[in-house]
Amino acid sequence: MAKEKILGIDVGSRNIKMALINQDRKTKNIIDTAVIPIPEEIVTMEETQRLEKIAQLIKGGIADRNIKVKKISFSINSPQVVVRSFQLPPIKKKEIHEAILMDLSKTFQDITNTHAISYKVYQHTKEGVEGMVAFCPKKLVEGYVYLSSLIGISAKYVDVNANSITKAYKTFISHAKPDENVILVDIGATYSQVNVIEKDRLILSRTIACGGGSIDKAVSKHLNISLEQAEKDKFNKFMEYELHGYDAEGYIKRGYSPIVQEINQTIAFYSQKKKHAKIDRILLIGGGSLLYGMEEYLKEGFSVPASTIKPTDNNAAYIKEFPSLLPAIGAALRED
Ligand SMILES: Nc1ncnc2c1ncn2[C@@H]1O[C@H](COP(=O)(O)OP(=O)(O)OP(=O)(O)O)[C@@H](O)[C@H]1O
Ligand SMILES: [Mg+2]
Repeated sequence: MAKEKILGIDVGSRNIKMALINQDRKTKNIIDTAVIPIPEEIVTMEETQRLEKIAQLIKGGIADRNIKVKKISFSINSPQVVVRSFQLPPIKKKEIHEAILMDLSKTFQDITNTHAISYKVYQHTKEGVEGMVAFCPKKLVEGYVYLSSLIGISAKYVDVNANSITKAYKTFISHAKPDENVILVDIGATYSQVNVIEKDRLILSRTIACGGGSIDKAVSKHLNISLEQAEKDKFNKFMEYELHGYDAEGYIKRGYSPIVQEINQTIAFYSQKKKHAKIDRILLIGGGSLLYGMEEYLKEGFSVPASTIKPTDNNAAYIKEFPSLLPAIGAALRED
């Protein structure tokens, strides 16, 4: 594989993240990154208009950086995307595709018409076939195809968030160890995604409606201030809150408690299912993991060590935003 540059794009509910990766089979380098806030008024726009605005922001981001981009790829992050494992009886390789569709159709009627389905085989032996399948509403995928046409660069591929960050984890997170079982949590603004990576393989993924915005909502409601102000205060480490008798730590804990719960349920589920394996580590990514004092909060909540992440490449200037860039970075990574 000759060197190839791909721009990975993650359109979140609050920020667009972009990462330009130069890669061949052996080396993968992050060349440039961007985090572009999405103005509030765009979020509530009708879909076509919203996508036009998003395309403008992306084109602007590319132009500002003076980079040449010929290929882009997206990471889809939506609670409508479902990722789950599958097991099939022993069958031939060419029968796998059909068998997966049949299996899914039993539970989800009409799914082949309504959803785009992709899968990955982890093991194909005499005992059977094991792997992961992801399905995403076709409408959502079509939105991304339309978005790439508006940007004027055709999309190389569209990947689901859980798979993007698993790829980024393996390549760019310094804690990643191929023999460990890890819970990788992407804390966004509106959603958080709890993923189990078992020895470098994604085996479980769940998305919940909770993120950095949950803290802002709680603070804004309790103190009767705007959401923008609440978020600003959060960025400023809730300075002077204690002075006024406000319980900043309580807001944070309550705001993130559904995420903590989901992680603990996942640990329990995993240890119940796998008698001889355990979760070794919890790693947090996403903008929500940039919260000041995050590592301190994490100490109390779990029976397993939890931490925020560091990139493998320490010299990079993007280091501050690195945790929120992982879906975009992963989207750009080619799988061999
Ligand atoms: N330094 C920081 N301290 C605390 N919170 C932060 C910090 N930086 C960003 N955040 C929070 O992270 C969230 C944005 O993260 P991110 O860009 O990953 O979200 P998103 O991908 O746009 O959202 P989603 O994935 O939910 O669609 C916001 O809630 C923001 O307040
Ligand atoms: Mg996100």
